[in-house]
Amino acid sequence: MKRTTILFLSILLGIISLTGCPGSRSVRERADKRNLTYGMSVQAGDVLDPDTISILEDNFNLLVPENTMKWVNIRPTKGFWNWSDMDNMVAFAQKRKMRMKGHTFVWHQQNPPYVYSLKTREEAIALLTDQITSVMTRYKGKIYEYDVCNEVLNEDGTMRDTIWYKTIGPDYLDIAFRTARAADPDARLILNDYSNEYAGTPKADGFYALAKDLKDRGVPIDGVGLQMHLMAQDPVSEEALLENVRRFGDLGLFVSFTEIDVRVANPLTAEKEAEQIDAYSKLMEIALGEKNAGSFIMWGFSDKRSWIPRAFPGFGFAHLYDQNDKPKPVYFRLKDIISGKKAK
Ligand code: G3I
Repeated sequence: MKRTTILFLSILLGIISLTGCPGSRSVRERADKRNLTYGMSVQAGDVLDPDTISILEDNFNLLVPENTMKWVNIRPTKGFWNWSDMDNMVAFAQKRKMRMKGHTFVWHQQNPPYVYSLKTREEAIALLTDQITSVMTRYKGKIYEYDVCNEVLNEDGTMRDTIWYKTIGPDYLDIAFRTARAADPDARLILNDYSNEYAGTPKADGFYALAKDLKDRGVPIDGVGLQMHLMAQDPVSEEALLENVRRFGDLGLFVSFTEIDVRVANPLTAEKEAEQIDAYSKLMEIALGEKNAGSFIMWGFSDKRSWIPRAFPGFGFAHLYDQNDKPKPVYFRLKDIISGKKAK
């Protein structure tokens, strides 16, 4: 072989190894390239299981603990902090340069008995601020975003009557967000809820009014979470979703799709699967297309270990991987969209 040919081939190989061959890029690399936060909720055991680890590494640039950071798990008794699972997950993410999201401090579920038995405003504020400060100080600089408050509204858009509302009053939100900002000023702080995706519905409008009020009063909120637990049979209303995303943008708030899954009524048919693919695709197009969006986080990756059949009997098939942890057609459609191919 001529020296010039060898030189040419060496340069070509060098370029390929530096830039990566486009066809062989992992989904994660493609998401990174698009500046898309592409994430997944995980259980504590997922980051210890070699099969799951390779799925996470190849595909996602953000992890969120599905249950591990919830109060009942991370601090089951007032005096005992169960840090090990969370430490492990954070170290896993750091090693792979993945972002880590925290979920969640203020919620009406998955709290230990000593939270539900709080009585006075003073003791509730002391415990809540201690919880937020302790977790956020430990993971300062390692967890980039938190769902500070989760599901604080009723279906009609009014405040939910939770232990925090009862003991502290409506300003528990101010206290939670201000405490979080003080604990880690660089963390992005989110108000998260479900059934809040479409402008013009009572809950979404109540959610918008609440976020606007917090923002107007200078409470440190950076963004909102639209959970997006959807049903394949209900087509995504792009217009109402875009209107919602954009009105938060006008307030200077980021919008994250925080807990996406699209459940299908049994039995699965080709038609229902097509509806599901359509819903996932529309969300991805909006996440990639809107300037104050860009975060597409799913609630579980596999139909094999899903919260859906337990919570919604008669439904399933909600995730990207099937009962054998094999990627489904919806996985490949999302991969195509992330790679820049338009949804069909
Ligand atoms: O860990 C115990 C296990 O020891 C026991 O044998 C088993 C028996 O039922 O329960 C296990 O705990 C379950 C836990 O998930 C872990 O799998 C709880 O019963 C179960 O209630 C819990 O469900 C979680 C649910 O939040 C709690 O309301 C789901 O996994 C989790 O996906 C779900 O996540 C929420 C978000 O945080 C907020 N948005 C809605 C979303 C779906 O409900």
